[in-house]
Amino acid sequence: MKALIAAGGHATRLRPITWTTNKHLIPLANKPMLWHVIDKIVAAGISDIIINVNPGEVESMRAAFGDGSYWHAHLTYLEQVGGAQGVAHVVANAEEHLRGHKFLFFLGDNIILGSINKFVERFQNEGLDCMLAFSRVKDPQRFGVPEFNDDGSLRRILEKPCEPPSDFAVTGIYLYNEDYFEAFHSIGPSSRGEYEISDINTWYIQSGKKVGYEEITGWWKDTGTPDALLEGNALVMDCLDRASFVVEGTVEDGAQIQGDVKVGVGTCIAADCLVRGPVTIGENCTIAGSYIGPYTSIGNNVTVKDSEVEHSVVFSGATIDTTERICSSLIGLNATLVDARRTHPKTAHRLIIGDNSFVEL
Ligand code: DAU
Repeated sequence: MKALIAAGGHATRLRPITWTTNKHLIPLANKPMLWHVIDKIVAAGISDIIINVNPGEVESMRAAFGDGSYWHAHLTYLEQVGGAQGVAHVVANAEEHLRGHKFLFFLGDNIILGSINKFVERFQNEGLDCMLAFSRVKDPQRFGVPEFNDDGSLRRILEKPCEPPSDFAVTGIYLYNEDYFEAFHSIGPSSRGEYEISDINTWYIQSGKKVGYEEITGWWKDTGTPDALLEGNALVMDCLDRASFVVEGTVEDGAQIQGDVKVGVGTCIAADCLVRGPVTIGENCTIAGSYIGPYTSIGNNVTVKDSEVEHSVVFSGATIDTTERICSSLIGLNATLVDARRTHPKTAHRLIIGDNSFVEL
């Protein structure tokens, strides 16, 4: 089997971060989001993996994941010709690589805890044409939603219905046979102008193909919003192997390290710090006079001085030097947060923030 990962799209709900960084490169527990997806796919025994990217993004993706040799896998990067046109189009764009194969299609912003191995095995052992994974959610109108017949069989999948017929979301983990390409040629763009994966799934169901489904009972998240991303970061940290929380940098005498804390090479945690895990800190950072609280991940070359930060993702190159407590925040690449009192006589806020930023003062 092969696997295809969707890692293109606009990620408008994560702007301004995604003006400059592809969403799938945003770090969760200090590894790009897609890293965790590749881990799952390789663990399911699939090593031939195609990564769909936006035009012009092949090099930044290759720089992050290489040729796959880290996983003993083979990664192929493929530009989505014409840019984002809908999830179903991602597969059509990869037709020459997937023809003649059964394949796993994984939306790169979906984070699942637990393995996908059984899901893949069932598809193969039962000779299915298509296999879907459902997850019970509170807000099904944000997703593809299955509608069932009275006997429990699938009737169709509706994309983001205003009145959802069930409280399941169709997650972004799909398995297909090569009938996919026939399905694609029989659908057109939806009213929002996208080729919808739900239309493909409905085609499989209504063409009498063998469609299986399974409920994901463990945690599953589509990390499309800042809150979901922070939750994803926290849950990935919870599931990290304890052995990966290693201290490779320097922790000065007197610094308090509580719980699981990873400290990268070249990083210094000064004596006057309290770091309460789970926390992951990258390489060459300076943490002084600060409290770093649970579920914070800090990239490389970050300075945190006289500050309190918790439940946040701090990207590489950022500087935080403020007496305000920072929580549940995303601090972008090379961003600087300093106290107004240092630069202004009176308490004031001076902001140089990117388009579509979100600031709570
Ligand atoms: O997360 C599950 C949901 O994903 C499903 O329930 C929906 O049926 C499905 O349509 C999809 O909905 P989203 O609104 O979440 O799709 P989004 O536009 O966020 O894109 C999903 C992933 O695919 C994301 O990693 C970006 C990537 N993508 C998206 C488009 C539209 C591409 O690579 N190319 C594209 O053209």
